[in-house]
Amino acid sequence: MFDALVLDRSDGELTVDVRSLTLDHVPDAGDDEVRLQVLYSSLNYKDALAVTGKGNIIRGDYPMVPGIDLVGRVLESASDAFVEGDRVIGTGWQLGEVDWGGYTQRAKVSARKLVSLPDGLTPKQSMIAGTAGFTAMLSVMALQEHAVTPERGEVVVTGASGGAGSMAVSLLGALGYEVVASTGSTEAHEYLRARGASRIVPRNEFEDGPERPMESGRWAGAIDAVGGQTLATLIAQLQRHGSVASFGNAGGHELRTTVFPFILRGVNLLGIDSNTCPNDRRRTAWERLATTLSDEDFEQMTARTIGLEEIPSVSREVLRGAIRGRVVVDVQS
Ligand SMILES: NC(=O)c1ccc[n+]([C@@H]2O[C@H](COP(=O)([O-])OP(=O)(O)OC[C@H]3O[C@@H](n4cnc5c(N)ncnc54)[C@H](OP(=O)(O)O)[C@@H]3O)[C@@H](O)[C@H]2O)c1
Repeated sequence: MFDALVLDRSDGELTVDVRSLTLDHVPDAGDDEVRLQVLYSSLNYKDALAVTGKGNIIRGDYPMVPGIDLVGRVLESASDAFVEGDRVIGTGWQLGEVDWGGYTQRAKVSARKLVSLPDGLTPKQSMIAGTAGFTAMLSVMALQEHAVTPERGEVVVTGASGGAGSMAVSLLGALGYEVVASTGSTEAHEYLRARGASRIVPRNEFEDGPERPMESGRWAGAIDAVGGQTLATLIAQLQRHGSVASFGNAGGHELRTTVFPFILRGVNLLGIDSNTCPNDRRRTAWERLATTLSDEDFEQMTARTIGLEEIPSVSREVLRGAIRGRVVVDVQS
């Protein structure tokens, strides 16, 4: 028997509780199934929506175990890719949305959805990062691949106090960039400076959209959690051959821009999708996370470590924006 947080529907009502299950309850994961002792998971905004029944996150059948991230130890593997005792990370690939996710002490996951925990990263640190850190690292890699180097000038991060935004600030800071954090949260300024921001700009500088298709070039690069008018402003304010990595829509999903910044300044709009990121790139991103952030960075970014029972109440806090930093779920506690 093991414990899992189970979302269920009865008479149209969503229920969420910790249940004792056996492996027979867990849907099979296919020919390359890996059975895991899950060690940690994390609580992302998307998980908070799923657990509270908002945002149509769950697309699989009920009952469902949510949690888009997990790290675990291999107990049995039908795939040559892993052997008993290996430590592996799973993020995205429909975990906790279509397939059962990480809020459990045991899981069955397809080997295709797992990568090895890199040397230098503890299981807990991997979940302090979670999808937020992984997405931030993919964004940084995309900028680097487009020649956005620290010498080129300031890089702005929007939604900077959020999970992925603050990870992006930390990563850029650790890599020697001049990081400008854009935030709507005045109480986050100190936290963002401690993460590596050299300057803070208010969120409302971007959210009305650009006044002209091209404004003066302020940024060598940008990492955007917000979308909408904010992203349109960033595109108009990128320097010649600058790039923006777009991963979020916290402020809107529409994008109104013109082709001028692209054809007259050669700027690049780089899309980031952590969910279906190919495994080679996943491995690289996780290795880069392990070598870029220090133990102290991970510690300072941990808002709270909670057990399975606390997930519903802490999810409500996450949705209220009451938590700064990452929430780690110690599923074995
Ligand atoms: N593409 C991917 O693979 C991927 C992966 C992870 C997340 N995401 C998406 O990325 C976004 C951020 O995710 P997260 O986990 O970092 O979420 P989060 O922790 O909730 O952070 C979002 C941040 O955006 C800012 N914000 C919130 N509402 C806003 C609004 N109406 N206008 C402007 N800014 C607003 C806030 O930062 P400030 O208070 O500092 O302004 C907030 O902290 C979400 O849209 C999420 O769905 C995408």
